[in-house]
This record gives sequence, C-alpha cells and structure tokens, in this order.
Amino acid sequence: MTTLATDILFSREIIHRRVGELALQISRDYQGRDLLVVGILKGAFIFMADLIRALGVPCRVDFVRLTSYGEGCVSSGTVRLTKDLETPIAGRDLLIVEDILDTGCTLSRLTDILGEREPASLKVCAFLDKPERRIVPFTADYIGFTIPDAFVVGYGLDLDEKYRYLPDVCVLRDIDGQGEG
Ligand code: PRP
Repeated sequence: MTTLATDILFSREIIHRRVGELALQISRDYQGRDLLVVGILKGAFIFMADLIRALGVPCRVDFVRLTSYGEGCVSSGTVRLTKDLETPIAGRDLLIVEDILDTGCTLSRLTDILGEREPASLKVCAFLDKPERRIVPFTADYIGFTIPDAFVVGYGLDLDEKYRYLPDVCVLRDIDGQGEG
C-alpha cells in the first residue's frame, strides 16, 4: 500500500494574504458593476468562500459542475456541464472562480459555454495555475499562485475526494520504503 505524506507548499497564512491581494484587485476592477461569481464545484468552494468574503464590492454567487471523460480535450464533448447555473447571465459581469488551472480543458469549455449566453463580461480567477500541464491554451485573468507540475491537495483540492479539508495547500509525497521511524 502506498503511504503518502503531505508537505506544506502554501501555508494558511500565505494563502490568506494572497487571497486578500486578489480580492483587492478584483474589488477595484468591479467597482460599481453587477458581479456574479461562479464557482466550479467541487474544488473551488473553499477558495471562493474566502475570496468573496474579502471583496469590497457586493456580488451574487452561483455554481457549476463539469465532468471530464477520457484523456485530453480535443473535442468539446470531452468536458461536459453536469450542473448548470441557476441564474440568467445575459448582461451580467461574470467572474468564474476555479481552484486549479491544469490542462485548461475545463475552463476553456466553460468559458465557451457561458460566453454564448452573452454576459456583459467574463473573467476567470484561478487560485493555482500549472502552466506546464496545459493542453489547450488558456490564460486566467487573476491567478493566486503559479506552481510546478506536482500533485497538490488541500484548500479544496482532493485526491480521490480526500484532503479537501486541509487548510494549507500541500504536496503529496510517497514515503513508501522509508520505514516507520
Ligand atoms: C479539477 C479541478 C479543476 C479541473 C482543472 O476538477 O478542480 O476544476 O480539474 O483541470 P483541467 O484544467 O485539466 O481541466 P475535478 O474534475 O478533479 O473535480 P473537483 O473540482 O470536484 O475535484
């Protein structure tokens, strides 16, 4: 059986500070606008909860969920919307909030789908960005941290639904064969 250790990559204090910076930037950009924050379930729920509470502008919230089928994302059917918005978005200022931008398949597909509904504006805030893993070109408007290609968990991110509750972002390390001390 594989034994995994969690090494802290970004502590809760560092995360708190960075989320505050992002919130300040977003608040300036959306002053006087009609902001709808859209979270992508499940991973984004913790980041989104912290981000919107740090905003200095009012917003409303909604959520979507997408599921990937198979490897890659060459066809639009590879990533499907399994939970849609409950809010009409035509004419609204949309900010999509994501926990991690990896291959780019999810955000590329979602921005296509939501863009067709003619929002007034559409931007993306990704807590983490792993540019080395990109399959489809995609650039987020706001990024918390850019990270290398390591498997990270915590602060909403999971491995088989485990570790989402961790308050720090951690890298998983295989400690098999290193003995039990
Ligand atoms: C993960 C993550 C992002 C997406 C990013 O979601 O939360 O939504 O993958 O990957 P991409 O850029 O390669 O598309 P996942 O499907 O694991 O669901 P979860 O959020 O429920 O963990």
